[in-house]
Amino acid sequence: MKRRIGFLLRTGSRTVISGACLLLLAAQPALPFFHDNPDVELGQRVYESVCSACHGTRLQGNPDWQSANPDGTYPAPPHDETGHTWHHGNAMLLDYIRRGGQAVLGDMGVEFKSGMPAFEGQLSEAEIGAVLDYIKSTWPERIRAVQAQRTAVEAQE
Ligand code: HEC
Repeated sequence: MKRRIGFLLRTGSRTVISGACLLLLAAQPALPFFHDNPDVELGQRVYESVCSACHGTRLQGNPDWQSANPDGTYPAPPHDETGHTWHHGNAMLLDYIRRGGQAVLGDMGVEFKSGMPAFEGQLSEAEIGAVLDYIKSTWPERIRAVQAQRTAVEAQE
């Protein structure tokens, strides 16, 4: 009897341990790849204190991001692979963070009431670069590769 309980306890704790490992993996998307880059850590701090209120603590965006608010703006989209941040190259994304949606879309001739503020003046260039590095560090390899290609094409436009 004693032996059987010992066996059950051992099996039980192994399940708990592997469950904890899975949770850890889920909470750390692709970060180890960039972990030596100090910009990612700065970027994460900036993201959590400035961007997460709108774009979500897990970059998941607002659940209703595709439906307009009563004032004509849209809720913040996700920055993870379900959003479209990765469809744009670095220059466009940095410009969007620096100058905000209204100025960038206005230059493109798009009529749209943007809900994305400008962070120029509030954040340094290093912080703006770092926050984009952080967002990119959470993407799977496949998405990072597509976005890198978009950046290369954009540089030739
Ligand atoms: C007040 C809410 C709000 C805050 C705070 C905010 N955003 Fe946004 N953001 C938006 C909205 C809304 C959009 C959708 C496009 C638009 O309205 O111009 C957006 C769009 C973007 C885009 C373009 C995504 C795309 O697919 O085209 C980027 C990049 C972005 N935000 C980055 C950031 C970063 C980085 C921060 C923090 C420094 C931040 N945002 C803080 C509301 C916000």
